[in-house]
Amino acid sequence: MKLVKHLANLGYGSRKQVALMFREGRITDAQGEVMYADDPVDHDNLRVDGEPLDPPQGLLIMLHKPVGYTCSTKDPGRIVYDLLPPRYRLRSPLLSSVGRLDRDTSGLLLFTDDGALLHRIVSPKSKLSKVYEATLANDLRGDEAQAFASGTLMLESEQTPLLPADLEIVDSRHVRLTLHEGRYHQVRRMFAAVGNHVEALHRSRIGGLGLENLPSGEWRLLDEAARTELFNA
Ligand code: URA
Repeated sequence: MKLVKHLANLGYGSRKQVALMFREGRITDAQGEVMYADDPVDHDNLRVDGEPLDPPQGLLIMLHKPVGYTCSTKDPGRIVYDLLPPRYRLRSPLLSSVGRLDRDTSGLLLFTDDGALLHRIVSPKSKLSKVYEATLANDLRGDEAQAFASGTLMLESEQTPLLPADLEIVDSRHVRLTLHEGRYHQVRRMFAAVGNHVEALHRSRIGGLGLENLPSGEWRLLDEAARTELFNA
């Protein structure tokens, strides 16, 4: 691949804009030697305005999503991409969220530009659990854990029952729910199915990965060790 295309794929601009950056001498190697659009790609040795390049393709990112942000690329309101560096939205291949969280749900959201990895994370075969902490509007009735674990609970307008889910009761209005699948508004609809209402929802874990001490609204690039952790639940 030519350098100009590599930089355009990383979101530094259109090919035309990146070609201009070359002409302006803004693209150099680590020693400050000016590079040319046709030069071969030596990612780690390149600088734009003296700064190392953004990471190459193969990103896995963790975001601590706050309430009020939509998992969309073009919602008119606040979107999760507003919380990542602006260039990351312009990358090719696209950096997409792995599944979604509702606007009113906070917590752990992953992004990747690696289609195979995305597929592996969401594939039922990987059996990655997702853990949610929910605050309920009404006291628990007492039969919820059994209903969620049954493997027979049907959500409205669905054809197949939910897989067994594990409900841990913190107190009468606070629960930790572990799911092994991801259906639309699943947690909220599960509690609606047992006559309750979710007031607040937070995803704390996906597989073996937690948010650790990542503050709300912040993101972190995940390394190989974190990927192994993700699949080692
Ligand atoms: N279940 C929900 O209801 N909402 C989410 O955002 C995630 C799971």
